[in-house]
Formats: sequence, C-alpha cells, structure tokens
Amino acid sequence: MKRLSVNIDHVATMRQARGDREPDPVAAALLAEIAGANGIVAHLREDRRHIQDNDIFLLRKLLKTKLDLEMAATDEIISIALEVVPELVTLVPEKRQELTTEGGIDVVSQRARLTKVVGKFHEKKILVSLFVAPNEDQIRASKDTGADFVELHTGEYANAVGKDIGVQLSRLQLAAKFAAESGLKINAGHGLTYKNLVPVAIIPEIEEFSIGHALIAHAIFVGIDRAVKEMIELLREVK
Ligand code: PXP
Repeated sequence: MKRLSVNIDHVATMRQARGDREPDPVAAALLAEIAGANGIVAHLREDRRHIQDNDIFLLRKLLKTKLDLEMAATDEIISIALEVVPELVTLVPEKRQELTTEGGIDVVSQRARLTKVVGKFHEKKILVSLFVAPNEDQIRASKDTGADFVELHTGEYANAVGKDIGVQLSRLQLAAKFAAESGLKINAGHGLTYKNLVPVAIIPEIEEFSIGHALIAHAIFVGIDRAVKEMIELLREVK
C-alpha cells in the first residue's frame, strides 16, 4: 500500500505563536503514528520558526516508524542532522521570507555540492531525498548526486485549475516514470489534500506522500487520529 508521512510543522507553528509548550508537535507525531502513519516529517528551518532542535532530538528518541528530517543543505543544519541520524533527510531550498517551501531544489546548478552532502549522509547510513520539480533535468541531476529518493513537488498540481490540472498531473506521471527508470525511489508532496490526493496516489511509481497542512487543518476539527485515518483510507482505495 502507498505510505503516508505526516508533517507536524504546523503544530509547532501554533505552539511558537504563544512561545509556550502547547500544542506539542512531538505528541502530535506520536498520535499520528498510533493512527497508522508510516512516518513523521519535521522541517528544522534555519530561522527555527516552528520546529526546534529539541523537538528533533525527542522525535528521534520516541518515534517507532521513521523520521524524515526536512532541511536546507546548510552547514549548521547538516551537522545537526548528522548528530540526530534520522532514517531519511529531505533536502529542500529555503528562503527566510517564504511562508512555506516554495519551489524544488535546483539540483542541476548545485550538483557537485549536493553530491558531497549526499556522501556525508550515506557515511552515517542516512537515506537522502531531494525535493524537486517534476522535471527530467532535475531528476537526472538528482540521480548523479547519489541520492536515494526524489520527492516530486506537487505544488503546481495542487494549485492548478481547469485543464491545467491534467497537464500538471501528466508532468508528475512522466517525472515519476523517468525517476523510477533512473533507479530512484519516489515520494511526493506539497499542497496535497483530501480532495486532490487520489489522482496522484494512483501514479504507480510513487511510494510515499508527505502531507502536512491539509491534514493538521482537518485535525483541528476532528482530531489527529481521525484526520490520519481518513487520509490512509484514501490511500487504501488506490492500493
Ligand atoms: N514536502 C515538502 C518537501 C515540504 O516542504 C512540505 C511543506 O512543508 C510538504 C511536503 C508538505 O506540504 P503541505 O503542508 O502543503 O502538505
């Protein structure tokens, strides 16, 4: 079955709004696991606007599934990741002013540096995923770096309207096929919701979905347990 990783950043955003202890993103992660999530994603941003270093160390200790540490490939965050040793790191571009990760990482222009970064993680047996646009050049360059996975950026699909939805969906289908033929494993995420997930989930090569905003927004009304189970139910329908 297709797998679901739950991104808990938004729980930390609410906590940071008050500078208090609650709601606790680590508690949210544990509840998401109990509900059936296959993994937890947390983005340790350079400005620490939501997830804090301590959250990552606690997640590392307490999770029973897997930790996907989403991060920019900066020296500071790389050294934290090498200390934490998550199962997977997902490298993303990061701009301080953005509300969320806006685009894929430009692997083509940073191929040599990213190859070194991937090598450092592999020395510690940490798998590496590169968050990229559904674009052959970026996928080819990702393979060249030695990365294990690409995470296809589904944001343009999620934002598309009318005929463009089909156009964006076929970009994702072609990119997933190309990545699989290149020997990469494939995750996908960004902007996926209860309404738009299924057409992407049907793409056979995609193994796992990283979902945050829609799921945590729903959880505010129905609780994390039900929000996770409803998302898993959608994935179960597509097998
Ligand atoms: N994947 C990556 C690489 C992301 O940066 C994000 C946003 O934090 C997500 C998945 C999840 O996106 P959303 O919160 O829109 O579900």
